[in-house]
Amino acid sequence: MTPQSGLSFDQAPPILVPFRFFLSAPLFGLLAAVLVLVSGAGLLESRWLPPVLAFTHLMTLGFLGLAMTGALFQMLPVVAGAPVAKPVAVSLTVYALLVPGILLLVGGFLAVFPLAIRLAMILLGSGFLVFILAAAVSLKHGADNPTAQGMRLALLGLAVTVSLGLALASNYGWGWWLADRVRLTTLHLSWGLLGWVGMLVVGVAYQVVPMFQLTPSYPKPMTRRLTIGLFVVLLLWTLLYLGGMTPLLPLDGTLFVAGFGLFAGVTLRLQTQRRRKVSDVTLLFWRYGMGALLAAPLLWLAGQFFPEFSEGAAYPFLLGTLFIGGFAVSVVNGMLYKIVPFLIWFHLQSRLMGVGKVPNMKEILPDAKMRRQMWLHFASVPLFFLAVWLPPLIYPAAVVFACSMLLLEANLLSAFGVYRRNIKLVS
Ligand code: HEM
Repeated sequence: MTPQSGLSFDQAPPILVPFRFFLSAPLFGLLAAVLVLVSGAGLLESRWLPPVLAFTHLMTLGFLGLAMTGALFQMLPVVAGAPVAKPVAVSLTVYALLVPGILLLVGGFLAVFPLAIRLAMILLGSGFLVFILAAAVSLKHGADNPTAQGMRLALLGLAVTVSLGLALASNYGWGWWLADRVRLTTLHLSWGLLGWVGMLVVGVAYQVVPMFQLTPSYPKPMTRRLTIGLFVVLLLWTLLYLGGMTPLLPLDGTLFVAGFGLFAGVTLRLQTQRRRKVSDVTLLFWRYGMGALLAAPLLWLAGQFFPEFSEGAAYPFLLGTLFIGGFAVSVVNGMLYKIVPFLIWFHLQSRLMGVGKVPNMKEILPDAKMRRQMWLHFASVPLFFLAVWLPPLIYPAAVVFACSMLLLEANLLSAFGVYRRNIKLVS
């Protein structure tokens, strides 16, 4: 048992259970960057263009979805005290359904190929169903703490997102039978970004920010009420939106701005109170992510006051860049740099105990390598943001982002190489 993590050897799933997902995620980011390079500046004309939808899902399902799913397989035993039953078989099934499902969905968008979309629906629908059921059963028997509560709500958010996504995809798979495409898409993306991604990040932060960044704990009243409060606000927003009560929507949305703003503000403040004042890569990734999480809702709010701005083509691209690229990708990237070396060290510790020397985390993944990739990511977000006004910037943005994802993959693979070399020595 490691006192720092509360993780015990017999509870931890085999290393490949989360790593299969972690090592695949940056490859989807790389595909997304290549897609932007191939599509060029024309991409920015409308959010409804097939390459934009393909890009969005390479990032939300490919990069974020796979990394978050892998992290949940790892974290459920730790935070909820209840591992997923048969983790190897379940995680392999989920992986084998999701990866081709994402590729077929993206390919189907790009090639306007209904059969690919239909197959993607079957694969993604069943992959997420297996994952959600397995995680829900684990959480049902697990502990009841604020992180477990955040995970439960995030899983509900994922279930709603996937159901709406499948309904929308059926439009592409079986002809345009769903007339209310725009409204359903707004609901789908709100549940995906706020209900699934946002809720999971908040819930997981309660555990990992104090643990990995050595900060004081989040205030108790906040950890007890914030995720459930945000979930109720999202439900209310959905009802108001479906009921056509549009004048009330900005009011409800302001509660979101306040909730996520509170979370980002408290996280930044806790980080200034950390016990060891050295800056590390994860800390910087989280700071950058929190900055974007403060900026995105302000931009959304600006759109509520200036409808000519929110109705323009630039608005969704600016919001998406800030929320997906600036916030979600940064936080997940930063987390990977803590979880990956930690798990390698943890698994080597159990295998090498009394047999050989266990490399420390800095030897597994050196700081300089992570920093190089971090700066590339930090540069890519403002480049994408500015490209919305200066379209030729989309090319350097995509090149920098591609390099960032390539380097991330190389860093994760080199860390995994340390694990494999050491295991070979003792087997
Ligand atoms: C089974 C999984 C999913 C399927 C089948 C799916 C399908 C779709 C489809 C068909 C659309 C386009 C709607 C239209 O053109 O009428 C769409 C839009 C969108 N989806 Fe998904 N989706 C899935 C998961 C997700 C997830 C998990 C997220 C976020 C975390 C997400 C974020 C988005 C966003 C942001 C858009 C709007 C894109 C834009 O405005 O250009 N999707 N989705």
